[in-house]
Amino acid sequence: MKPTDIAERIDRGENVTFDLCVMDFEIQQYVHTLVQALIKTYTRPDLEEFIYSTLKEMIINGVKANLKHYLFRAKNIDDAAEARGIGFDELKRLLDENELERFKEIAEIEGLKVHLTVMHSTERIMFLVENNTPMTQNERRRVREKFDCALQYDNIFEYYMGHADDMEGSGLGITMIVLMLKGIGVDPHSFSIHVQGRTSTVAKIQLPLR
Ligand SMILES: Nc1ncnc2c1ncn2[C@@H]1O[C@H](COP(=O)(O)OP(=O)(O)O)[C@@H](O)[C@H]1O
Ligand SMILES: [Mg+2]
Repeated sequence: MKPTDIAERIDRGENVTFDLCVMDFEIQQYVHTLVQALIKTYTRPDLEEFIYSTLKEMIINGVKANLKHYLFRAKNIDDAAEARGIGFDELKRLLDENELERFKEIAEIEGLKVHLTVMHSTERIMFLVENNTPMTQNERRRVREKFDCALQYDNIFEYYMGHADDMEGSGLGITMIVLMLKGIGVDPHSFSIHVQGRTSTVAKIQLPLR
């Protein structure tokens, strides 16, 4: 699919779907086009930053999770070892920009994919980001902890003040999505991440437009 096709599909009210394996320049262009088309079609420039940041975060989480599952399986790192922090240094190295091409090769060989679906109408926009590895117990626990913790705050500044000591290196993705939803007056529970059919993980946001 070309970026122009994406814009046309949105304009015609059709769903948009595409597969990706890494968030490279081409995919960033797609996402950019998609966001621009949505805010134009529904005349909601106020949602630009929200849609762009949350989509990017969900996609990168899916890409990262796929790579992590591959790497940990290859290195025989089980849930117990993962909980002790084993394997993360190598994961970080692979996620480094310079290693993007290598990861792309791995993803293609191993069939690691992220599938994006956008459904939209004047009522709501729904984003589904599916990566084809299922969340482990540790990951499910992390998602729940991040989500529950973020619910206690009203904005990122408050959150920062409560976590200033342990901010270094800690992921802010889920926290950011929850707090951004609160910021635009949408119930944070319209965001979820769940395992689907034992084979994949789906992150979903339902964004009401009224
Ligand atoms: N698609 C996913 N598959 C598996 N685990 C996930 C997924 N999305 C999020 N997670 C889990 O939630 C954690 C927190 O995510 P996030 O807040 O975005 O921080 P970060 O991505 O920097 O770790 C991740 O470290 C991971 O354990
Ligand atoms: Mg993240």
